[in-house]
Amino acid sequence: MLKTRIDYYNDIIKHINFDKTRDNYCVKFYKYDNEKKLFRIGNSIVVEYKIGTPASRGAIHLGKFRDENKKLYKFAIKISSVSSKSEIENKMIDIATKAVLNQSSPHFLMSYGYGLCVVKSSIKSSFVKSNTNDSNDKKEKPIYFLNKRRRRKYYVYLNELANGDLKEFDLNVKTTKKITDNKVAQIYLSLMFFYKETGCYHCDMHNGNLLYKTVKKGIY
Ligand SMILES: Nc1ncnc2c1ncn2[C@@H]1O[C@H](COP(=O)(O)OP(=O)(O)OP(=O)(O)O)[C@@H](O)[C@H]1O
Ligand SMILES: [Mg+2]
Repeated sequence: MLKTRIDYYNDIIKHINFDKTRDNYCVKFYKYDNEKKLFRIGNSIVVEYKIGTPASRGAIHLGKFRDENKKLYKFAIKISSVSSKSEIENKMIDIATKAVLNQSSPHFLMSYGYGLCVVKSSIKSSFVKSNTNDSNDKKEKPIYFLNKRRRRKYYVYLNELANGDLKEFDLNVKTTKKITDNKVAQIYLSLMFFYKETGCYHCDMHNGNLLYKTVKKGIY
């Protein structure tokens, strides 16, 4: 499982390589897909519908990319306004990714990279226009979350996709004592790994910030 995750990471970063000196990783309107608006970052990354529990500072979307052999890669795209916390968040993401790649702590999700978007004042981006969609179906209005003040400078993060968060797990998965015991053990393990790798305490631990990935029985 860990090897599969690392292979997937290596395949993705062979194709997508964020350049930290650039600031043009902006979300743009791509096309209509059965009346549903799709967005893109650059020419190859497609931003689809929102996933997960509503985010506090940004929004999480399903992201897709196809390589030259049409192999499909999926990931989570987090779009988050730049704030005083961004630098710390980026550092934590780098530490977590390294910890998975060197196989010292598998309890993190990896980052496939992140990049900055600075909206130039003369360009009226589709990102802003998309706010006018009045459908009630959240899957149909992907990029409407950042308030006006925050839309001008934001980060896009490409992260390993989880199956859901703990809130969704508790709602959707029928639990047994064995599963509950395992869940509690995994939460403690992830907190322990977080402290071990970063030397920091996690001060925002709640069921929306604990993500899970299903694995095949008996292997990790
Ligand atoms: N990699 C992922 N795979 C699947 N779902 C995700 C992923 N990342 C986030 N989510 C979903 O999106 C929700 C919000 O994400 P996240 O917690 O990263 O944003 P936030 O709450 O704005 O940020 P923060 O918790 O750092 O303040 C999560 O609760 C989860 O439901
Ligand atoms: Mg959160």
